Amino acid sequence: MDANTVFKGLEGVIVSETKVGFVDGEAGRLVYRGFNIEELVQHSSYEEVSFLLINGHLPTASELKSYRDVIMKSSSLPSEVIDLIWAHSNKYPTSLLRTAVSLLGANDTRADHITDSDQKEIGVELVGKVPALVSSIRRAAEGGKYVKPSPDLSLAGNMLYQSTGKKPDKSSERIMDVCLMLHADHGSNASTFSSLVTISSLSDIYSALTSAIGTLKGPLHGGANEMALKLIMEVGKPENVEEVIGGKLEKKEKIMGFGHRVYKVYDPRARILKGFAREVTARNGKGQLFDTAQKIEDVMISKLGTKGIFPNVDFYSGMVYDSLGFHPDMFTSLFAASRTSGWVARSLEYVSDNKLFRPRSSYVGERGPLAYIPIEKRN
Ligand code: ACO
Repeated sequence: MDANTVFKGLEGVIVSETKVGFVDGEAGRLVYRGFNIEELVQHSSYEEVSFLLINGHLPTASELKSYRDVIMKSSSLPSEVIDLIWAHSNKYPTSLLRTAVSLLGANDTRADHITDSDQKEIGVELVGKVPALVSSIRRAAEGGKYVKPSPDLSLAGNMLYQSTGKKPDKSSERIMDVCLMLHADHGSNASTFSSLVTISSLSDIYSALTSAIGTLKGPLHGGANEMALKLIMEVGKPENVEEVIGGKLEKKEKIMGFGHRVYKVYDPRARILKGFAREVTARNGKGQLFDTAQKIEDVMISKLGTKGIFPNVDFYSGMVYDSLGFHPDMFTSLFAASRTSGWVARSLEYVSDNKLFRPRSSYVGERGPLAYIPIEKRN
């Protein structure tokens, strides 16, 4: 390997050490700070998981109460951001979210000359603010008025309440909470890496999150669940699966919601979400959607399981969000709402032992020196 070897997409390059989370693609394990995701989903809440990711240990009861208090306070939005969201309620949600986070940063004087303690304080506030922004973006798009968060609800409950103006039932609140926990962190993915690059210049954490949201917006990263849901709807019913999926595979088309760069076995997040997808679709009279998805899964595993192709988290998350009333345009923003915890945790961890990112490119252009031609003589 010479000094000019290019690692396209930084594939295989280790850029940092982390204690935040670990993805074991061979064993199908997702670990946050040493805890298996299944264990956390069964016993914990998103607020606890967020505290764990950012602080490195599970909170005591009093630590959790203080953390919830900050999140609750932060999920009330300032008027200038409410005005922005309602003035642009017809815009693509992820773009509007990115702009709203940036506006929050522009209006926070702490961000002008940021200190380490400010970074953490703002990071935790953003854990509450970003979900409130996402919910308000949905509320504005659906023509409702801004809803203040309710102190008797969890962050997940307030996401649904601030989206719709109606207090959610316990089951919907729980499913939202699970979705938040499952998407909170996932290794050194593109958006997380973006946040690290930004924070490594000692910029503020609003800027790190603005970079991350911009990166998440791309269809290669945050957009697959929307396409997976569209596919399941297009197939329509279990009897159509063999023909439609078989036809697509023959044409070498990728089936959205299957396969993963890291997991070569069943994605543990998909396994958990599948149970909730079954429950929520049955409750909302959309059982056929789930049955169709199950049949697609069976056909895909029988044809491609030996190549390590299994459902990923996106195959079932779109169906769950749809059943909770979110339009597919909102799916990437929902992802951002929960991933805020991972972005904040990893940005704070990185900057505590900082090194400015400065990779090189291998120059393959003209080395010259060429003779300069005055503009009037060029053709
Ligand atoms: N549908 C059909 N065939 C597939 C799929 C799929 N979704 N995924 C992989 N394959 C095939 C490949 O074409 C390849 O076939 P070959 O051996 O005939 O060449 C074989 O399975 C092995 O796949 P890889 O190329 O090793 O998969 P890779 O790791 O490069 O790609 C990726 C992973 C990009 C996620 C791919 O599976 C894909 O495009 N999936 C659909 C999009 C998707 O669901 N993305 C969400 C990922 S999860 C997330 O980001 C939160």
